[in-house]
Amino acid sequence: MWAPSGFAGESNLDTVCVIGLGYVGLPLLIESAASGYDAIGVDLAPDRVDYINRKKSPIPEFADERLFEMVDRGNLTATCNFGALSAARVVIVCVPTPLGKTKEPDVTSVILVLEEIRRYLKPGQVVVIESTTYPGFTREVALPILEKTGMRVGHDFFLGFSPERIDPGNPIWGLKNTPKVVAGVTPACGREVEAFYRTIVEQVHRVSSTDTAELVKLFENTFRAVNIALANEVALMSNRLQVDTFEVIEAAATKPFGFMPFYPGPGLGGHCIPVDPLYLSWKMKTLNYSVKFIELADALNSSMPDFVVSRAQDVLNDHNRCMRGTKVLVVGVSYKRDVSDVRETPAERILELLAEKGADVRYHDPYVPEFDFPGGSLTSMELVEALKTSELVLIVTDHKSIDYEAICASGVPVFDTRGVTRRLGLCRDSVTVI
Ligand SMILES: NC(=O)c1ccc[n+]([C@@H]2O[C@H](COP(=O)([O-])OP(=O)(O)OC[C@H]3O[C@@H](n4cnc5c(N)ncnc54)[C@H](O)[C@@H]3O)[C@@H](O)[C@H]2O)c1
Repeated sequence: MWAPSGFAGESNLDTVCVIGLGYVGLPLLIESAASGYDAIGVDLAPDRVDYINRKKSPIPEFADERLFEMVDRGNLTATCNFGALSAARVVIVCVPTPLGKTKEPDVTSVILVLEEIRRYLKPGQVVVIESTTYPGFTREVALPILEKTGMRVGHDFFLGFSPERIDPGNPIWGLKNTPKVVAGVTPACGREVEAFYRTIVEQVHRVSSTDTAELVKLFENTFRAVNIALANEVALMSNRLQVDTFEVIEAAATKPFGFMPFYPGPGLGGHCIPVDPLYLSWKMKTLNYSVKFIELADALNSSMPDFVVSRAQDVLNDHNRCMRGTKVLVVGVSYKRDVSDVRETPAERILELLAEKGADVRYHDPYVPEFDFPGGSLTSMELVEALKTSELVLIVTDHKSIDYEAICASGVPVFDTRGVTRRLGLCRDSVTVI
C-alpha cells in the first residue's frame, strides 16, 4: 500500500475501483486485487459483471486463474452500480474511446463515467483516466467536470492520466512488467498517482503533465501505425519488383542497430493502432496543424484490404479462375493473432469486397464463432470440412492454433497475407505470400 497523502477523508485506503471491465480494465482489476487491494469493478454490461462474479472470464482468451481465487477470497467483485466507487481510494477509468462517424474522437463514455464519479467523489480520492484520449482532455474536459463538486484538485481530490500499454495475447509483456507512464494535473496529483501505481507494477515513469502522458500514448501508437504503413508499402513495391517482401525485411533486420522490423499485412485493426493516431490528428487540426505522417499512414493502411482482394484475384487468374462464384475461405477474422477481438478488423472489409465481386464467402476462426460484415452474417466453419469445398484460401489472421499444414497440403490455392506459411516452411506452388 502506498503512503496516504493525509487527505484520506472517508475513502477506504485499501479499495481500488476500476470502471470498464474489458481488455484494459479486467487485467487491472485483477492486478490490483493481486497487489492486496480490495478490487471493485464497475461496468454497464450486466452479463460481464455476472461472468466475473461467477468466476468466469468475460473475455474468452483471457483466462487468468487468479480471477477465480480472488473472487473466492472476496477481494474482487463486480457490479453495475456506480455507487460502489464511493468506497474506493483510487478510481480508474477504462471505458472505450472509439472514433465517431467522421473519424473524430468519441469520448462520450468517458464523460458519462466522469459525471458518475462527480456524483460520488469523496475527499482524498485519486481518479485516474486510462482510456486513451487526446492531449489536453484530462485537464480541459475531465477536471472541470470533477471540480463542479466544489472540491479542489491537488488538495481535496487528485486527478491523473496513465496510458494503458496492454498488448492482448502477448505472453511476455503484461500489465505487471510493462513500465507505466503516469502524470497528474498538479504536482501533488502526480505524486499520488505515481505512489499508487508503484504498488501494482514493477516500474513507473512519471512525466510532468497529463498533456505529456496523453501525447506519449498517441506517439507510441502512431509510431506503430506509420511503421506498419511503411512495411505495407514495401509489400506493394516488392510486388511490382517481383521480390519477396519477407526476405527483404528479414535481411534488413540482421542489421544490429538503426532498424526495427515491422511486417506487412491485410490492414490495421483493433481498438488502438487504427484509432489513436486519428485522435492526435484531430487535436492538431484544432490547432491548425495537419499531421501528414498520420494521414499518409492511415490512407496506406486503409487501402490494404483492396490490395489483398486484388491480389487474391490475381492468384485465381493464375489458376484460370475468376472471383465470381468462387468459394473463398477466409482464415482468421479477428484483428490479430490469438485474440477474439474483431473491432476494426480488416477481415470485415475484405469479406465485403469479396462478396461484392461475387465470391461465395465463408470463414474459419477458432476464436470467433460468428461474424457480421456489411454483406451478411456468417458462422465459422470447421477447417477440414471447409477445405473440402473451398476453391481459394485467404489467410487474414495467423492464429497459432490453426492447422496450416492441412491448409497447404489441401491443394487449394492459398493466398497468405501474414507470411505464416513462409515462417513455418510450408510454401509450395499452391501458396502465394503477400
Ligand atoms: N484493447 C487494448 O489493447 C487497449 C490497449 C491500450 C489502451 N486501450 C484503451 O483503453 C480503453 C478501453 O479499451 P478496452 O479495449 O478495454 O475496451 P473494451 O470494449 O474491451 O471494454 C470496455 C468496457 O467498458 C464498458 N463500458 C462502456 N461504457 C461504459 C460506461 N459508460 N460505464 C461503465 N462501463 C462502460 C463496456 O461494457 C466494456 O466492458 C480505450 O480507451 C482504449 O483505447 C485499449
